[in-house]
Amino acid sequence: MNDNAPNDFKRIQNKANIVEIIKTYIKLESHGKNFFGVCPFHDDHSPSMSVSPDKQIYKCFVCGATGNVFNFVENYLGVSFLEAVKIVADKIGENFTIKESREDTKNKKYYDIMNLATLFYQNNLRTSAGKEAREYLHNRGINDEIIKDFSIGLSLMENDALYKLLTKKSIDKKDMDALGLIAEGENGIYDLFRNRIMFPLKSPLGKVVGYSARIYNTTSNSKYINTRETVLFKKRETLYNYNLASQYARQEKFIVICEGQMDAIRIYSVGIKNVVATMGTALAKEQIQLLKKLNVKVIVVMDNDAAGELSTVSLGQSLLKESIDMGIVRLTGKKDPDEYILTYGVEAFRDNLRNPMSYPEFMEIYLRKNRNLKNPTELTQYINDVINMIKDANDEILIEVTLNKLVDEFHLDKELLKSRLKNNEAVETVKVVKEEKAENTTKIAKTTSKFNKAFKTMLYYMMNDTDSMRMFMHYHLNLPKCKYRLVSNNLLYYFELYKEIDFADYLTFSEEYEDVREVVMEVIRDVHVDEFSIDDMEAVLLIMKDILDKERIQELKREMKNELDVNRKKRLLDEIIEIKKGCVKNGRD
Ligand code: UTP
Ligand code: MN
Repeated sequence: MNDNAPNDFKRIQNKANIVEIIKTYIKLESHGKNFFGVCPFHDDHSPSMSVSPDKQIYKCFVCGATGNVFNFVENYLGVSFLEAVKIVADKIGENFTIKESREDTKNKKYYDIMNLATLFYQNNLRTSAGKEAREYLHNRGINDEIIKDFSIGLSLMENDALYKLLTKKSIDKKDMDALGLIAEGENGIYDLFRNRIMFPLKSPLGKVVGYSARIYNTTSNSKYINTRETVLFKKRETLYNYNLASQYARQEKFIVICEGQMDAIRIYSVGIKNVVATMGTALAKEQIQLLKKLNVKVIVVMDNDAAGELSTVSLGQSLLKESIDMGIVRLTGKKDPDEYILTYGVEAFRDNLRNPMSYPEFMEIYLRKNRNLKNPTELTQYINDVINMIKDANDEILIEVTLNKLVDEFHLDKELLKSRLKNNEAVETVKVVKEEKAENTTKIAKTTSKFNKAFKTMLYYMMNDTDSMRMFMHYHLNLPKCKYRLVSNNLLYYFELYKEIDFADYLTFSEEYEDVREVVMEVIRDVHVDEFSIDDMEAVLLIMKDILDKERIQELKREMKNELDVNRKKRLLDEIIEIKKGCVKNGRD
């Protein structure tokens, strides 16, 4: 909560005239008692928004947007409530200063420490110890002005330079630890960041909350190491450069999102300041909300590799779900935006930004890759994937256009597609291509598709959630040999090594196993889960167990039929009974 007095809000609202304030943003025309204008909160050309000077509110009859003068500014500019109050106050010449929230006051001590650390790192880069790092940066085309804009610094080679400095300033080592700056080993306390170029990670308000630290004159398994989750650093809430980019994004009416901080720095430094970076991981709900708040188009420019393509798929899907306007850029020729700009220049890059693909266009190409649509099975997969993609969209026109395209191209029954979209079921090959097939085949196909879906969902849980991983191990399923089992085995191996699951880290890990990697991508593409509930994981495991049990029973029955030895027959029967008991225990038939 904020500490600003409610009286301030009232005073400013009473003095501000909502009509006059809104008029500074959109055109309003008077009509009787009220004013009307084109609503800026949905796509429209007729005046659907009315503003009432009596009630001091606005209301859109089409999209239902409504609120007071502060809400209008808040939503129109995508700023926080307090920022909106400040903007309105400035417009009418009232005084208003945004006081720090209680949260900020509570964390002031921590912010101050991070500030000290950042100043220390920045200073190191300017001293003789920083000569090589400075050269590294300059060689990459990062000049002193950029170094300053991004508060870039350097941690020293020594074991505990920062620890010593902070101790001298009477800072408690508990606090240093809470901020992820130090750790304690056998030989005492040491700095977590040593001999790396320090890129501060900042909150949306520009305060340093953590670091991403790059090697520059050594080799190491990790090119970057980042601050872990701390009292201040919440990965889910951080987008690199959001603090600087947000105002430019509002001006330019779009924001560029890329993967690496080096890419963001490059793009920013060539004059496209409305840019943020994901820092190499899939975006959390909170980060998507930060983008949504800006109320501008999001241009997605991920790296030019398979991982970047995959991030584009998943980020695009999240943006689509949130009805955020977006464009997709896929660069070719160079690995990432940084190298692209250095090689082909900023104008070539701008050309790409000016001509993005729509998400469905991108997905169409992506989903057709490596697929032969003349093959019924692959065609079915393709259609299912397209339906899965639009399932999340709140845009009826997009859904209509996409379905029509499928109908036209593959001569499908539109009603069937529509019902599949609603029921969220896989489209059966049989029905789609209208081939007559034995009922049995349909049944098997259905079971297989159900099993594969459950398997993929389960893998997605395991990749994201340590508890789900443990539950999987607890269940001990006897999994059939298939491509999905490659991934579960790989996950078990990862878990054995690291004892916990870190999604982003696992992605890097799996990159080394080509077969696994391909399936991992498929899983991420097909499964969409925001919140991980262990009950859902268990439900999925039970579905799988159920199918596996039933299959095993069929197999045993077949064996029994062919078995002549009475004793062996009995053992087979016992096993069937055992399995059936297990089913009963789990509350199923
Ligand atoms: P990249 O490997 O694409 O880095 O990882 P980059 O942006 O091209 O960096 P340079 O050009 O080599 O300096 C993209 C992002 O993934 C995260 C970082 O945030 C990086 O910016 N990452 C990468 C890590 O956290 N750790 C790593 O070891 C590598
Ligand atoms: Mn790079």
